[in-house]
Amino acid sequence: MTLFDLTGRTALVTGGGRGIGRMAALGLLQAGARVLIASRKLADCEATAAELAHLGTIEPLAADLSTHEGCVALATEVAGRVDALDVLVNNAGAVWGAPFAEFPPSAWDKVLDLNLKAPFYLTQELAGLLREAATPESPARVLNIGSIDGLRVPALPNYSYSSAKAALHHLTRVLAVELGPDIAVNAIAPGPFASKMMAATLDAEQATFEKVAPLGRIGRDEDIAGAVVYLSSAASSYVTGAVLPVDGGLSVASLI
Ligand SMILES: NC(=O)c1ccc[n+]([C@@H]2O[C@H](COP(=O)([O-])OP(=O)(O)OC[C@H]3O[C@@H](n4cnc5c(N)ncnc54)[C@H](OP(=O)(O)O)[C@@H]3O)[C@@H](O)[C@H]2O)c1
Repeated sequence: MTLFDLTGRTALVTGGGRGIGRMAALGLLQAGARVLIASRKLADCEATAAELAHLGTIEPLAADLSTHEGCVALATEVAGRVDALDVLVNNAGAVWGAPFAEFPPSAWDKVLDLNLKAPFYLTQELAGLLREAATPESPARVLNIGSIDGLRVPALPNYSYSSAKAALHHLTRVLAVELGPDIAVNAIAPGPFASKMMAATLDAEQATFEKVAPLGRIGRDEDIAGAVVYLSSAASSYVTGAVLPVDGGLSVASLI
């Protein structure tokens, strides 16, 4: 067994049917884990599971995580399938952009419910299964997918999104203290990666990102896969409460 081997481990990736969640699922599968992926559109998760099935065991689940009931239902479904959960990746998320003067209350409710409350509810509901997976050598893991928009003021008017991501980064630290030593809680703060959420932004701004980022490009699938595997494996057994930017240096770059 190597430091990065996840053979025999089980992981749940919310929003694992596409985008960054799919990149996370790919990395976990390649490292040997059994992976459950969950989102509202079961057909999307089934299609992704079929595409990735040659890499290992991947199981699609339906879940709407916009409510507490939906989070409890997913945790119940997972508990029916596994005796222990090694890794929970809280990835499902939504963004809302609108000018300051027009930013509506629904943009706060929708984004905070899914991007901030759901990771808390799922961690709460799955803490028992996560503790079952913990060993003295290696804690179970919660990985929260934050954003560089939670590290610095974003370029676009996404008030609830950037606030929710900053809050998720801090919740990561709070839960790291709460849940140790059995469960390590870390966050990944991605920069720009190609996805449905980012399609319009990249159409307009990809060249700017490439110019400003010290590493001169947007993210690739393996950049998320590598960070997720590291933070899920024995390689990071002594890391908790950390927020890891995976952004080519964009969050520390100077525009002038
Ligand atoms: N792409 C980037 O550049 C970037 C940068 C920083 C952070 N992030 C973060 O990465 C995460 C994934 O984003 P993405 O770019 O991959 O976006 P995406 O392609 O839009 O994927 C979002 C995922 O969340 C799921 N989802 C949405 N609403 C849901 C709900 N109510 N219940 C359950 N699942 C739901 C979607 O599936 P269904 O529609 O089937 O529900 C989908 O799988 C988000 O937390 C996002 O904030 C992305």
